Amino acid sequence: MSIVRRGEEEICKRYRPQRFSEVVGNKAILKSLKKAIENGNTRAKVYLFEGAPGTGKTTTARIMAMGLNCLTNGDTVEPCLECDNCILSLQDQASHVSELNAAILNKKEDVLKHVVDKMYHSTFTGRNNVFIIDEYHCILNAAQQPLLKALEEPPKNTYIFLCTTQIKKIDKAILTRCERYSFINPIQSEKIELLASVNEQEGWGDQLNAEDKKKFLKIVTFGSFREVLRTYDQAIRMGVDSLEEIQSDDDKTKNKLPSFLLKAEYTNVINMIQEMKKEAEEKEILFNTETIEIGILGYMRTILLRFNGNWNDDYNAKQALKAAYIIETLTRPIGKDYSYEPKAGFLLKIYEICKTIKDI
Ligand SMILES: Nc1ncnc2c1ncn2[C@@H]1O[C@H](COP(=O)(O)OP(=O)(O)OP(=O)(O)O)[C@@H](O)[C@H]1O
Ligand SMILES: [Mg+2]
Ligand SMILES: [Zn+2]
Repeated sequence: MSIVRRGEEEICKRYRPQRFSEVVGNKAILKSLKKAIENGNTRAKVYLFEGAPGTGKTTTARIMAMGLNCLTNGDTVEPCLECDNCILSLQDQASHVSELNAAILNKKEDVLKHVVDKMYHSTFTGRNNVFIIDEYHCILNAAQQPLLKALEEPPKNTYIFLCTTQIKKIDKAILTRCERYSFINPIQSEKIELLASVNEQEGWGDQLNAEDKKKFLKIVTFGSFREVLRTYDQAIRMGVDSLEEIQSDDDKTKNKLPSFLLKAEYTNVINMIQEMKKEAEEKEILFNTETIEIGILGYMRTILLRFNGNWNDDYNAKQALKAAYIIETLTRPIGKDYSYEPKAGFLLKIYEICKTIKDI
């Protein structure tokens, strides 16, 4: 089954999957979670969904929450969407699903009030009491303390889903208490799968001629699922040509520069950084190497996560080794001598990377 259009809201809401059969990609994760749901009481109670933005972490957690309370289908990853509990969930009114953004959990008292009290002392109407905490990395350490016990041993019929885009900021003590799932950015064919299904229901792409269609697909299948949907929506409103311009900047950080780096093309990397700096100055927007770094790290991480461990596959094995080396180098603290000048420290790392991975 493909994704279903629901309501007239903003595009990402309109096409937010409500059952596992509508979720695109991340197949291994879905398979394992489906098993967990079917395993009844032996399943884990605390889950950590980490990975790039817009890849389905919150969506998946919400489906689990609804599936753990569906009255028609029992514990399921295909909730009926029609029973009282499913309807309450869809309207964000279920007392058995608490979705919280960690940004509001700044202090210990906030955590006690919004999470711990609700977990231990309040009644809920569903079969299972589910907590979804989004952007978990935003919770400060002190505020986290009261949660540790709950994560270690949640009350009966309680399930907790922590979602984060920044796994590095999550405390070890938390990590060891969760079953962890890494969501990765979709590959081209998965994005096309999503688009085909959306387009069938929106019917817009049909009006394009072949040339524009090709251009459109190239532009639109960029980034995460969320980005794909947003760009699609924008393309409908603005036309294909105006999109090309918007996309080109983003494409540089997210795709071109990292691919130069993997080929150890130092001059190309440096030229591109210069070009981006110049463009940023012209547009009077802030330029910093941190954005570039995040783009590179995201790209390399995807390569690593996609490597299937087949060392006989020489090309992919080498790409994975290079990606690992790049991640390791970029995430290493910069030398003391460069702490006053992070940009120089970054460029030095780029040089070091190009020099070393030539030989991999
Ligand atoms: N795997 C997917 N299949 C189909 N659509 C998806 C998928 N992942 C995301 N989407 C689309 O993107 C939107 C955003 O997804 P979601 O909120 O689940 O992402 P997220 O991983 O929680 O992102 P963030 O880290 O920014 O919170 C959804 O409403 C849906 O339209
Ligand atoms: Mg989310
Ligand atoms: Zn139901």
